[in-house]
Amino acid sequence: NLLTAYRNLKVDTPVKSVQLISLDRPSALNALNRELMGELDDVLQKTQNDNQIKCVVLTGSEKAFAAGADIKEMKDISFVDAYKQDFLSSWNRIREFRKPLIGAVSGYALGGGFEVAMATDILLSSSSAKFGQPEINLGIIPGGGGTQRLIRAVGKAKAMEMILTGRMMKAQEAYERGLVSQVVDNEQLLPEALKVGEEIASKSAVSIQAAKEAVNAAYELPLSEGLRFERRLFHQLFATKDQKEGMSAFIEKRKANFSDD
Ligand code: CAA
Repeated sequence: NLLTAYRNLKVDTPVKSVQLISLDRPSALNALNRELMGELDDVLQKTQNDNQIKCVVLTGSEKAFAAGADIKEMKDISFVDAYKQDFLSSWNRIREFRKPLIGAVSGYALGGGFEVAMATDILLSSSSAKFGQPEINLGIIPGGGGTQRLIRAVGKAKAMEMILTGRMMKAQEAYERGLVSQVVDNEQLLPEALKVGEEIASKSAVSIQAAKEAVNAAYELPLSEGLRFERRLFHQLFATKDQKEGMSAFIEKRKANFSDD
């Protein structure tokens, strides 16, 4: 399987239609270097085109989801290098992935690790998770979306506090603030994330994709445009076989058999 030939990722399909991508660079607490992010980009592109996969779970190790961008790799970059290559701009591609992406965080999700976690669609955490944007301690600021996504997730006061002090937030508080959808015991993290994935994968691939697209539009559009966007997608789903199947199954009191069409 070509998908498994990565140096910093493990890729597996433990449950039908659900792909598990595990960040696997234990020597550096899954610090996100160029090679790892390139591999993540590659696997997401392949998964996008794989009709067998309907949903992805992205996780790390028990100790760290990811401890941030790789500081050793970054230390000597000059402004001109960073500017010319538009350093970190490729991280936006995670957002272009159109299938649901479930983040499952245990241990540290710091800096870029937190930013990647926030770029997933649903975030689950184990009780050991610690989220933070410690870039301020390095003389920089978040560069992978942290200042923009954290404020939307937890509001300005908390986002400012975390970004200006570098303090971490524990799992329970992240749950109470709506940053994560569930906190579970460490050993339940992957089973629960895969269960959510399996449940999503049992729906029509077309409506899953439309639902993700519509919810994400809420971050970009004013309400009136967002409502219009939602309604257009809603109307379009009446052109699918799966809409006819889903509604027929309800009326005939049977389970829907979606064909992703
Ligand atoms: N980059 C490179 N290497 C890292 C790393 C990182 N972000 N985080 C950890 N490592 C390495 C350590 O250097 C260490 O390697 P060595 O054994 O070769 O020394 C190994 O991983 C284990 O780390 P520690 O010994 O530090 O483990 P710990 O348990 O004592 O501490 C920690 C854990 C609190 C997470 C600590 O490692 C830490 O503070 N890491 C850095 C966190 C950070 O500042 N992240 C932000 C990075 S900048 C960024 O992400 C910019 C952006 O917006 C994209």
